[in-house]
Amino acid sequence: MNEKEGGGGEVSRRDFLANAAMTVGLVASLGTAGYYGVRYLVPEPRKKKFVDVLVSSLKELTPGAAREFIDAQGRKGILVNNNGKVKAFSKICTHLGCEVEWHAIKKEFFCPCHKGYFDANGKNIKGPPPRPLDEFKVTVKDDNIFVALEEV
Ligand code: FES
Repeated sequence: MNEKEGGGGEVSRRDFLANAAMTVGLVASLGTAGYYGVRYLVPEPRKKKFVDVLVSSLKELTPGAAREFIDAQGRKGILVNNNGKVKAFSKICTHLGCEVEWHAIKKEFFCPCHKGYFDANGKNIKGPPPRPLDEFKVTVKDDNIFVALEEV
């Protein structure tokens, strides 16, 4: 019996290499199909894009004053000038979603729903809110105040 005929359970080198190549190709194909299958079922999260929106001028936002604004998705924010330091926060309380109010004299945010308090930096200081208010990035150029809002 020669090597080409095989027999007796022996596998020729050529058959072994062909089977190995086929196995590698099959594994690579299944891996690629699996990767795209998972990507189809669990798409990558969309990256958020922000755009600077003119919200106020410094002249209009005197120290201690606040000004409300609404982003393109209808979410309310509040711009505060705390002794020349301008910050912008979401008006949505981090407890159960009521709207907070700015108290200029006490220099703090107050949530009337369950008496939650946040300091002028948005930090939760009293009551049930579990975390600080969400903050927006603020840029002041010349006399203009821009807030970075998420694009729709
Ligand atoms: S919703 Fe603001 S304290 Fe409860």
